[in-house]
Amino acid sequence: MDKKFARITLDPDFQISRIDKRIYGSFIEHLGRAVYGGVYQPDHASADEEGFRKDVLDLVRELQVPIVRYPGGNFVSNYFWEDGVGPVEQRPRRLELAWRSTEPNLVGVNEFARWAKKAGTDLMMAVNLGTRGIDAACNLLEYCNHPSGSKYSDLRISHGIKEPHNIKTWCLGNEMDGPWQVGHKTAWEYGRLADETAKALRQIDPTVELVVCGSSNTGMPTYPQWEATVLEEAYNSVDFISLHTYYGNPENDTANFLARSDNMDSFIQTVIATCDFVKAKKRAKKDIMLSFDEWNVWFHSNDSDNDAMANRPWSVAPHLLEDHYSFEDALVVGLLLITLLKHSDRVRMACLAQLVNVIAPIMTEEQGPAWKQTIFYPYLHASLYGRGLALNTALRSSKHDTKDFTDVTDVESVAVWNDEKEELTVFAVNRDLTEAITLETDLRGFEGYRFAEHIVLEHPDFKAVNSAEGQTVAPKTVSGRNEQEGGLLKTQLAPASWNVIRLKKA
Ligand code: AHR
Repeated sequence: MDKKFARITLDPDFQISRIDKRIYGSFIEHLGRAVYGGVYQPDHASADEEGFRKDVLDLVRELQVPIVRYPGGNFVSNYFWEDGVGPVEQRPRRLELAWRSTEPNLVGVNEFARWAKKAGTDLMMAVNLGTRGIDAACNLLEYCNHPSGSKYSDLRISHGIKEPHNIKTWCLGNEMDGPWQVGHKTAWEYGRLADETAKALRQIDPTVELVVCGSSNTGMPTYPQWEATVLEEAYNSVDFISLHTYYGNPENDTANFLARSDNMDSFIQTVIATCDFVKAKKRAKKDIMLSFDEWNVWFHSNDSDNDAMANRPWSVAPHLLEDHYSFEDALVVGLLLITLLKHSDRVRMACLAQLVNVIAPIMTEEQGPAWKQTIFYPYLHASLYGRGLALNTALRSSKHDTKDFTDVTDVESVAVWNDEKEELTVFAVNRDLTEAITLETDLRGFEGYRFAEHIVLEHPDFKAVNSAEGQTVAPKTVSGRNEQEGGLLKTQLAPASWNVIRLKKA
């Protein structure tokens, strides 16, 4: 077999884009224990005066999450936002149809906005275009963003919130192509509704940014015609189109699982092409940007959830979508982050779905601590060190085939240059399961930059998991794996590993 190799070249001129920090966004839905028992749990030892878990807030702050999508997800398609505002004791309990749960409405937009402020994050708000329409969306925007002197802004003020929330980013519904969605629509029906809603919302607040729903995933029979039809209707009135995808390894084929980021790459390329096709047809000037506002690994909890959905009585905050993530899942999350960064000129926002308890990097024990899943770490590293300019690494790597993919590079990488701090970070995953590979980095374009730190996530057991009791899978700073001679850096990438190679200007 040919020798495995990987070579990259870092050059300040190889810029993909200045990264929009919102690419490190996340998502909290009224689903399972994300809100109740996750971010909000007044009877927990760490709860603050408003009932928010401080242990969770600490971990969210550690991740430096720039934006959080809320309140759904499938949930939003039958959400009555008015139920969640005003005196808590007067709020109704609702049958929540998306996840067959009881929604107590103890947390609504005002509480969540307060939580977001404490977490140091912005809100990305979704409106219900499933069972409701233009009027409910307009009323919610007026309630949130209009200063005063109108029915809904004055209602907000009467609820004790004088200053508007000024939420900038709004999603026009959620996954409207999915037959599972309450109020599912055809592409044309949805495109028309999205366009008219967008126009009305902009009259209330011309500064908002609007995200129209793309396909729920590439497996949808309507993909990618859905994107084309929706944009034919709504191109001029929206700024972003959404992409969603979740990957899994139910067949236990790790090499194939690690290649799934190549699917995300072609998904992004197809949606860009579709946006640009409609742009050309419409002789439009602006580009539509991509909001990859749901992405993650999700499959561990599928069987038990399907059973629970069918047989469970209506209840508040049932255990749902509580995937327990393994080491190999963390590698895939790292690969997906690299893929998003490689397209950061068009992917301006992205949301790791989700943030707490529900397919999440942060888990909570009911009367115990909050703890970090394996996937917490690549997300943390990308968010901390991935600010600045994304650089194309001009990667040349040996390749392999897997069950569903051909020409899979053994190594995947992207680099980020923080030009203000004069720091350079290479994110790299060795997808070879058994062999270490030397990554050769040509640094001649970055004179004076010296190797500073190499952080690695590696584990002999692909299925190793963390728990409240221990961090079996955690990153470590390694030494002895990097050699720099002038403009050439050689780095040993352990088999199946996530690597963060940091350089600083001397
Ligand atoms: O994130 C979980 C669910 O996945 C969301 O509610 C929905 O939008 C998607 O199908």
